[in-house]
Amino acid sequence: MTGEMEMVRVKEVRTEASGISTVFFESEREDWYDMTPGQFVMIWVPGVDEVPMSISYSDGEVMGITVQDVGEASGAILALKEGEWIGVRGPYGNGFVVPEDCDTVIGLSGGVGAASVVIALERAFKDGIFVTSLVGARDEASLLFRGRWEHFSGKVVYSTDDGSFGHPGFITEPLKEVLEGMSEEEISRTIIFCCGPEAMMVSACRVLKEFNAYGLFSLERLMKCGIGLCDSCAVSGLRVCADGPVFSCEQLDDIEEFGNTHRDRSGRSVPIGEVI
Ligand SMILES: Cc1cc2nc3c(=O)[nH]c(=O)nc-3n(C[C@H](O)[C@H](O)[C@H](O)COP(=O)(O)OP(=O)(O)OC[C@H]3O[C@@H](n4cnc5c(N)ncnc54)[C@H](O)[C@@H]3O)c2cc1C
Ligand code: FES
Repeated sequence: MTGEMEMVRVKEVRTEASGISTVFFESEREDWYDMTPGQFVMIWVPGVDEVPMSISYSDGEVMGITVQDVGEASGAILALKEGEWIGVRGPYGNGFVVPEDCDTVIGLSGGVGAASVVIALERAFKDGIFVTSLVGARDEASLLFRGRWEHFSGKVVYSTDDGSFGHPGFITEPLKEVLEGMSEEEISRTIIFCCGPEAMMVSACRVLKEFNAYGLFSLERLMKCGIGLCDSCAVSGLRVCADGPVFSCEQLDDIEEFGNTHRDRSGRSVPIGEVI
């Protein structure tokens, strides 16, 4: 994909979990399927809005975005019917890349953050990397891609905040257990890919530091242009769209807003969690 917008037809809308569905579409553009997992595309719903979304499926013929219904644009995407048109431009930003000296990846995802992590782990597995998947959600009905992780993971742990399925509590607890079971040498050959609610990523960063482990985190901020021009996604001198959305733990340490604030549509800095 390039910066030019492509209009594509919706092929299928599939329910994945409570309030979360995947919208599948296809294109004849071959480069479309070569993006680095963790990169994002801007999705335009005519007459509504344009928002950044991670690619969650890509098999060379069909691509998918997995969307949680939280507001105007996401609601409009999920109301789409087969055959309707959306605009797609991108891919933008960096992504989840396994360093050459790593032979193991641990994927850590919370809620709809699983959308970018699942495809990154799939790619890593195809490249011969050993994969562990740690998948968290609020409750059992909200867990994403159950059954899919098992295809490429040596180990899968699910967790739910309310204890309705898998480990009861936060997914960072199984992360700690997995790292406790590894030697320092094994940890030095391991990378952690993480995407989820910001509070979860703050906590995951702490765990990684405790074990001297290396991780990449996908940060979410309001985006308008998606290409580094408008500053709506700015954090501590970085633009999440162009310098990220994937950052290392060390980079996040220098981002004052991480875990604290984000910008609303008018550019006002508001605490994470405050309704815009
Ligand atoms: C790189 C990137 C990848 C993304 N990938 C996905 C994905 O794969 N699936 C998915 O469902 N969503 C994804 N998002 C989020 C998505 O782009 C929208 O922000 C989300 O769908 C809300 O848009 P809306 O218009 O529906 O909600 P709005 O009407 O804008 O807001 C609804 C609620 O969500 C909160 N909110 C909205 N945007 C943000 C934000 N950027 N930061 C913090 N709070 C916010 C508001 O406080 C409000 O309460 C991604 C975002 C980024 C930056
Ligand atoms: S969205 Fe415009 S600079 Fe990032």
